Amino acid sequence: MTKFVLIAALGAIANVSAAALDAVKLHTAGDYAILSKTGITTASTSVIKGDIGVSPIFSPAITGFSLRAVTNDATPPITLVATSPQVTGNVYAADYVSPKALVLTGAIGDMEMAYTDAAGRLKPDHLDLGSGDLGGLTLGPGLYKFGTSVSIPTNFTISGSSDDMWIFQVAGDLTMAANKKVILAGGALASNIIWQVAGFVEVGAGAHMEGILLVKTAAHFRTGSSLNGRILAQTAVTLDSSTVTQPPHVGRILAQTADILV
Ligand SMILES: *[C@@H]1O[C@H](CO)[C@@H](O)[C@H](O)[C@H]1NC(C)=O
Repeated sequence: MTKFVLIAALGAIANVSAAALDAVKLHTAGDYAILSKTGITTASTSVIKGDIGVSPIFSPAITGFSLRAVTNDATPPITLVATSPQVTGNVYAADYVSPKALVLTGAIGDMEMAYTDAAGRLKPDHLDLGSGDLGGLTLGPGLYKFGTSVSIPTNFTISGSSDDMWIFQVAGDLTMAANKKVILAGGALASNIIWQVAGFVEVGAGAHMEGILLVKTAAHFRTGSSLNGRILAQTAVTLDSSTVTQPPHVGRILAQTADILV
């Protein structure tokens, strides 16, 4: 009898450690710093490190980037891809025809699948923490579920190791006040932080955000804001002198459809 109880207790401990979160796989969506279904606009010069893409909307929905078309030698010439002085990487749209542009539909599908995966995670470690106000908190790894909007009115810290995962499920909007900062501590990586937001994301002027934004609607980055992560949005992305730096795409196994020719 004593033996049985001990084994049962050990089983319970094993289950607790097995509850560490599996990564949300981005697949080909993780090959972009910014993806949008309806457009990417910058009000004034932004700095994007990584590729950006729109689909199913066409390239005219990318505005403010001074796009330069890279064409082939057909008559009339066909646009393969575009570049921008504001983007370290390429610009893709559903009306371009380079190999990576031709699989944009797949990347959008992967973005939506990642959203659904994150939204569907069960058994949150924390429910409606701080009534949705993360200001001043230091959060360890885990699944955080909010039935409301979430605000970041003052700096807040995400703390854990480089193996740890954070998934924030937000039923409303995610808003961050001007000049506030998400701070990473202890080796926590932006690529392991997932914000699944059913509403919009708004990052205030001069504020700094960390993580992968999987957004059901729009993402607005106000003047001088920045992100270490990715913006994967199902409607529009608006920027204004913003800096978006993509983290390494961990867990990407297959070689990507590289646009070697352009
Ligand atoms: C919040 O972060 C900003 C930007 O790093 C910093 O300037 C400010 O001093 C921080 N505020 C507090 C209260 O720590």
